[in-house]
Amino acid sequence: MDKFIIDGGVPLRGTVTISGSKNAALPIMAATLLAPGVYRIKNVPRLRDVRTMAHLLRIIGAKVEFGDHALQIDTRHADFPEAPYELVKTMRASMYVLGPLLARWKRARVSLPGGCAWGPRPVDLHLRGMEKLGGRLELDRGYIVARARELTGAHIYLDVASVGATGNIMMAATLAEGTTIIENAAEEPEIVDLGHFLQQMGARIQGLGSKTIQIQGVTELHPADYTIIPDRIEAGTFLVAGLITGGTVTLTRCRPGHLQEVLAKLQEAGAELHVTEESISLKAAGEIRPTHVTTAVYPGYPTDMQAQWIALMSLARGSSVVTDTIYPDRFTHVPELQRLGADIILKNNSAFVRGVSQLKGAPVMSTDLRASASLVLAALAAAGRSEVLRVYHIDRGYERIEEKLQQLGARIQRVDDGKLY
Ligand code: UD1
Repeated sequence: MDKFIIDGGVPLRGTVTISGSKNAALPIMAATLLAPGVYRIKNVPRLRDVRTMAHLLRIIGAKVEFGDHALQIDTRHADFPEAPYELVKTMRASMYVLGPLLARWKRARVSLPGGCAWGPRPVDLHLRGMEKLGGRLELDRGYIVARARELTGAHIYLDVASVGATGNIMMAATLAEGTTIIENAAEEPEIVDLGHFLQQMGARIQGLGSKTIQIQGVTELHPADYTIIPDRIEAGTFLVAGLITGGTVTLTRCRPGHLQEVLAKLQEAGAELHVTEESISLKAAGEIRPTHVTTAVYPGYPTDMQAQWIALMSLARGSSVVTDTIYPDRFTHVPELQRLGADIILKNNSAFVRGVSQLKGAPVMSTDLRASASLVLAALAAAGRSEVLRVYHIDRGYERIEEKLQQLGARIQRVDDGKLY
């Protein structure tokens, strides 16, 4: 199992290119099931989650070939509408195949994902959405078995603006008879990107990026070529890396417009920013200022940047409160950050962080994707050597993070069983 060895304390300097968005790539890959044909997708990040989704598509019968940050997916012979437990339990986003499978085959067998390292993450809104569109769902040995004679447009109000449920319902509704309206829909850029891809396939969708999405069902979709948007969470993570190490970093091929709230918070915390249409330069200007953050749905501060912010605030000059309203249990990084010397008290869904003048290197263990990122960030700023164990979590969502950090001057190495790469 790989780990990172990090010798901290080096201010990062240089330029890094941002990869394509994981959370846009995954539903877009699932959407290729909606119409038989050959798709070419570009700006695909090289990540474990993308390989897992490719594996799932192959189980369903698609051919998937990887190029240089590109995918060719051939769904002409896909014929097995099932998502097995072994995959869904490792990646919840496998649920994204439910909508496309039900819409195209009128039947699907998709495992329920089960628990998650940071608390219950229900999929009830996905399931209720499918039922509203006319799906009949039952549970069989841990699997959702869905059937429909045909799908019919419906008015669906989401109690929570769920990203996954919005995407799943939107995909299923593209082939439903009549009009579907999703109220309190997710406005996240990844859902907008999925919507744009579906439009390229011939879907009729209005209201993307707003709380009300309207989908006029069509009888048939067709394959499309597409380029995925840059990953705003990878971008945000590298910006925090620049600030936490007191460095100067420039991100290229990113979409600053997708990071407004994160950029505002970074400025509040002491970053000097220079933004162009596709790049962001950050310069750490003096000490890190304590800055409260409360996560919210887009365009609010993303929950996927919460752990990284706590790492940053651990070194702020003063106290701050970081609250997660989306996932109240998503704090597995806190005890590990404490091992590096962070002063954090957890109460309900808030972390009360008192900045310390220095973190000290230590072995730490990551428990999920963004938690791993926060530990890497803290280790980059800590004095001395840290080991971040179980980096397979970080490989799910960050493309070659150690190589990108090395380019910025970080002393980080990937080690397998004691062997240096
Ligand atoms: C997606 C992202 C994940 C991010 C999250 C929130 C992907 C692959 N993953 O996850 O990185 O952290 O959005 O921005 O895109 N909920 C329900 N019932 C449901 C579904 C969700 O109650 O059926 C609740 C969840 O418990 C949570 C909230 O809705 O409190 C948001 O979850 P959701 O937006 O669905 O997250 P995901 O799509 O799973």
